[in-house]
Amino acid sequence: REDDGSVSQYLYFYHEFWCPSTFIQSTISFQNNFHAKDSDIIAASMPKSGSTWLKGLAYAIVNRQYFTSLENKHPLLLSNPHELVPQFEASLYGGKDPVLTQVDVPNMTEPRLFGTHMPFPSLPKSVKESNCKIIYICRNPFDIFVSYWTFFNKIRLKKSLTELTLEEAFERYCKGICIFGPFWENMLGYFKESIERPYRVLFLKYEDLKEDVNFNIKRIAEFVGIPFTQEEENNGVIENIIKLCSFESMKESNGNNSGTVTVNVDREFFFRKGEIGDWVNYFSPSMIERLSKIMQEKFSGSSLSFKGCP
Ligand code: A3P
Repeated sequence: REDDGSVSQYLYFYHEFWCPSTFIQSTISFQNNFHAKDSDIIAASMPKSGSTWLKGLAYAIVNRQYFTSLENKHPLLLSNPHELVPQFEASLYGGKDPVLTQVDVPNMTEPRLFGTHMPFPSLPKSVKESNCKIIYICRNPFDIFVSYWTFFNKIRLKKSLTELTLEEAFERYCKGICIFGPFWENMLGYFKESIERPYRVLFLKYEDLKEDVNFNIKRIAEFVGIPFTQEEENNGVIENIIKLCSFESMKESNGNNSGTVTVNVDREFFFRKGEIGDWVNYFSPSMIERLSKIMQEKFSGSSLSFKGCP
């Protein structure tokens, strides 16, 4: 057990990952109660890797019919992607009664869309044994750290807690002590699965999405079995999705629709800069050296590489 310095009081090392105390009950409930369907689509990630963006894209791709019928009030303009694509370990199985309180999970419209930050090995057996599709978004650990630190300090401020210093947060991060971490285990678990079973796990990188979102939207659509038709492409459906899910559009609609996604987490907290390489404004030379060394050590046996960091 460790003091996590972020949202909940403690992190527990549970099933090989650091689980916030506030999520323990819901995590266990999810593991015990969820029955995957082959048509399910799961957006997975380490926190602060672009989960909100991925959820928005997946939702827009799956619900592309909205572009013709609900032009001006697309759900993504009214809600945060985390509200449209529920997180297993948080919203879905949370609450006092750790059974599905708000959403009728078994009867959700198919394909059902979910999110998770849990590492692959900790997912329920039914997810691992079904043919559901998992899309993982990975981001360079330097940018994740800055995004993580700034995000949790916003929450701390809201809860009237003192801000965590950069040094304190970095020390924990390097030891692997962060929500759903260690980050290297989280990334490597899904990466390995994406190599062994590429039809089950699509491994995306935040930096690649920034570079060519059009290409990656098509990849996602093909991966989940609903590729775009020529007609849809000609009608600018992909361009509409790009615009709807752009950082600017999401930040604006979430700012205009204030409110919280979960207790103490404002919708707008999920949108900060949306850039690659902002870490240069925060890292000292010794921090660069330390994190680079950790990455070399942890990722050396794999072919996983990162963009946007030293
Ligand atoms: P920064 O803090 O570096 O700006 P997550 O969604 O996993 O919590 O990740 C949050 C990070 O993704 C934040 O990074 C946030 O600004 C960025 N982000 C959110 N929506 C985005 C979008 N539509 N396009 C690009 N980046 C986005």
